[in-house]
Amino acid sequence: MRRKDFIKNTSLAAASFAILPPGSLFARAADPKVKIGLIGTGLRGQSHLELLLGREDVELVAICDVDDRMLKTAKEMITKSGKKMPPIFTGDNYAWKKLVDTKGMDAVIIATPWEWHKPMIIGSVEAGIKYVGTEVMLGITLQDHWDVVKAAEKYNAHVMMMENVCYRRDVMAVLNMVRQGLFGELIHLQGGYQHDLREVKFNDGINPYGHGVEFGEKGFSEAKWRTNHSVHRNGDLYPTHGIGPVAHYININRGNRFLTLNSFSSKARGLHNYIVKQGGENHPNTKVNFKLGDVVTTHINCANGETILLEHDTNLPRPYSLGFRVQGTEGLWMDVNKGIYIQEKSARSHQWDEAKPWLDKYDHPLWARWTKETAGAGHGGMDFFVIHSFVESIKRKTATPMDVYDAAAWSAITPLSEQSIELGNETVEFPDFTGGQWMYRKPVFALNDEY
Ligand SMILES: NC(=O)c1ccc[n+]([C@@H]2O[C@H](COP(=O)([O-])OP(=O)(O)OC[C@H]3O[C@@H](n4cnc5c(N)ncnc54)[C@H](O)[C@@H]3O)[C@@H](O)[C@H]2O)c1
Repeated sequence: MRRKDFIKNTSLAAASFAILPPGSLFARAADPKVKIGLIGTGLRGQSHLELLLGREDVELVAICDVDDRMLKTAKEMITKSGKKMPPIFTGDNYAWKKLVDTKGMDAVIIATPWEWHKPMIIGSVEAGIKYVGTEVMLGITLQDHWDVVKAAEKYNAHVMMMENVCYRRDVMAVLNMVRQGLFGELIHLQGGYQHDLREVKFNDGINPYGHGVEFGEKGFSEAKWRTNHSVHRNGDLYPTHGIGPVAHYININRGNRFLTLNSFSSKARGLHNYIVKQGGENHPNTKVNFKLGDVVTTHINCANGETILLEHDTNLPRPYSLGFRVQGTEGLWMDVNKGIYIQEKSARSHQWDEAKPWLDKYDHPLWARWTKETAGAGHGGMDFFVIHSFVESIKRKTATPMDVYDAAAWSAITPLSEQSIELGNETVEFPDFTGGQWMYRKPVFALNDEY
């Protein structure tokens, strides 16, 4: 986007909001509330719940889970908020089918294990729900991704992946810099999920993090289901935190698209070693054979000539880092060393500038406007924006800023990377979920300070 247009949009938006008194945050009293149901009240669902309960423009009309402990916590949160207790759907794995039949419901948010997302999204849109916010990953197989896209198209429904990292403050400042041309023409991008999840993949069935080496039925929260994906699958199992921001930088599905992909996987040692160290050599889980390589790297080639490198690294000791690198003809940003270099603009040639002054200077208008509201929201405040943009899209009866094609393209990296590794690191073709529309679609994400 040209700088002129960005500024024009921003000031228009600012002007339109200037006439609302500050107390009218999110809603005027007479506005109908957005009616939302929540499927999955686990740890992520609870974080969404807190944000939904904090908004005056949202009415929580139903919740669903199969785990009494998670439901108990959710109910306590609702009681504490002073909001009305909604109907609760539980009892079996298909109780959500009754939730989606709730009359007058505008939207559902899905925060369940990955394997449930596809049936829950499709079930929701078939029931007539027009807005579905799903936690990351659209499905398991490539066909799942097609099925979700086709269902969204058939029922004219908006399916948004709740990819919160797209709203991280530094990520958005860099988006602002990209759109203003600071890095020149983009050439190469990196990102990923580099997070020591050993204390998430294993626990004692009581505490969510650490304290044991159990998983599956004996685990709690993500250890109950996520770890099994590391047993049975080898690929980039969690690409969206890295690829979401990168896709916005280079307008994927909006003038650009992913063309091909290949993946490499290292050997798998980290999870086994952790079990031995924490649970002892005789713990039964030492016999589990983990298929997921400790470090999986994926290369993607794009229609406009950029290359992308994604890393998935969740089984080894390491500090958290999404490993972003955004490199163009004029310079680059890397998040690991918190550095930016722009030729002829940086203080010294061939040397990094500290990124912070650049990021402060180019703070995205969304953050500049809504910082106060992000206080207390998860993941450094970025979780606020993902709910905010979902709710504001519903209120405006407009498309969500990240749509089903984005969700499908980002999440399909998982089955494609599995396929590539299975085929001996073969390069595989990326499907075009937009059916050629990528050539004509325009960027819509975060063009101003509204949502
Ligand atoms: N974007 C982020 O930063 C972020 C962070 C954490 C998790 N997540 C994602 O959120 C999703 C949920 O993860 P989580 O950490 O909350 O896991 P969790 O295990 O804590 O919660 C999942 C919940 O889904 C419930 N559930 C399982 N099957 C169900 C069914 N058939 N019907 C109704 N409820 C069912 C479980 O009982 C559990 O309470 C995953 O997609 C995960 O990747 C995203």
